[in-house]
Amino acid sequence: MTDSTRKTSLTGIKPTGDPHLGNLIGAIRPGLRLAESYDALYFIADYHALTTIRDAAEIRNYTRSVASAWIAAGLDPERITIYRQSDVPETFELAWVLSCVTAKGLMNRAHAYKAARDRNLEAGDADLDAGVNMGLFNYPVLMAADILIMDTDVVPVGRDQAQHVEYAADIAGSFNHAFGETVRVPSSVIPSEETGRTLPGIDGRKMSKSYGNTIPLLAPEKQLKKLVRRIATDSTAVEEPKDPDSSAVFQLLEQFASPEVTADARKRLEAGGTGWGDLKNELFEVLNPQLEPIRERYAELMAPGSDLDEILAAGAVQARARAHTVLTRVREATGIG
Ligand code: ADP
Ligand code: TRP
Repeated sequence: MTDSTRKTSLTGIKPTGDPHLGNLIGAIRPGLRLAESYDALYFIADYHALTTIRDAAEIRNYTRSVASAWIAAGLDPERITIYRQSDVPETFELAWVLSCVTAKGLMNRAHAYKAARDRNLEAGDADLDAGVNMGLFNYPVLMAADILIMDTDVVPVGRDQAQHVEYAADIAGSFNHAFGETVRVPSSVIPSEETGRTLPGIDGRKMSKSYGNTIPLLAPEKQLKKLVRRIATDSTAVEEPKDPDSSAVFQLLEQFASPEVTADARKRLEAGGTGWGDLKNELFEVLNPQLEPIRERYAELMAPGSDLDEILAAGAVQARARAHTVLTRVREATGIG
C-alpha cells in the first residue's frame, strides 16, 4: 500500500525462466525483507523480456509463473504492489522522453550491449552489432523509465544490475539539469550482499539457469530429492574429517537450516563419521517442508480462474496512479501536452 511517509523501493523481475533456489536466496527473500521497511513496488518486466523471447506463449507463461512464484514465496499483495510492466503504459512514454536526454555514448558503454559486441568480436564477426536489436541497446533507458516513473528511492538488484541503476540516476540527473528538478534520483542496494553469499548449484558453480545446474524452486518432491542427490561432492570417505565450507551441500544447508542444525552438521563433518550421502538426506529433509507450501500456493495461483489476475489488475491500478503523477510533472516540465 502506498504510504507517503516511507521511502519507495522498486525492483523488476524479468520473466525469462523458472525461478530457482539461487533466486529465492539472492533476490526473493532479501527483496521481501527489504519491503518491510519501504513502500515496495515489484513488477514483472515483460517488455524487457521481449528483447530476447520470440514466443508469445512463453512470455505469457513466464509472466504468470514469476508473479505466482513471488506471491507463493511470501509476497503479500496487500503490502507490496505487484504489477506487470506492460500494464503501466506511462513507462513507455517516459522512456521516449528520457532517451532524448540520454547520451548515446552512455548506452555504448552498457554492460549487456558491450558483452554482445565482445561475443561477436570473439566469434570473428565483422559486424560487431550483429544480433543486437534496438531493444537491447535501449534497455537501460527503459529500465530508467521503470524506476523514475514510480518516484523510486532505492532499487534492490543483483550486482550485475547495479550499473543499470547508476545509469537511471545519471539519466534522472540529465533530465533535472535540462528541465529543472522534476524526477527523483534513485540509488541501488544489493541486498544479497548483506544477507548471504552466492548459492552454489548442483555442480558447485554459482547456481544459474545459464549453467543448467539449478534446483528449481518449484521442483516436485521427487525431482527435488533426485537433484539433491546429484549435488557434486568430493570422494572423502565417510569416516574422514571434511571441510564443510568447500561443500556445495553444506553451503545449501547453511542457507535453509536453522543456525543450530547448521552448527551441528558442521561439527559432525569436521569430526568425521558423517558421509556426504547423510548430509544430502538432511538437506532434503530441511528443504522439502520449506518448499512444499510454496509449491502448493504456486499451483493454486497458476490454475485458470485463480486470484492471480485480480492481484495483478489491482497492482496495475495502484502503479498507474503513481505513474500518472510523475508523468504529469514530466509533461509539464518539458512543455508537452
Ligand atoms: P540466472 O543466473 O539464473 O540467470 P538471474 O540473473 O535471472 O539468474 O538472477 C535474478 C536474481 O537472482 C538476481 O538478483 C541475482 O542476483 C539472484 N541470483 C541468481 N542466482 C543466484 C545465486 N546462485 N545465488 C544468489 N543469488 C542469485
Ligand atoms: N534488468 C533487470 C534484470 O535483468 C530487470 C529490470 C527491469 C529491473 N527493469 C527494472 C530491475 C527496474 C530493477 C529496476 O534483472
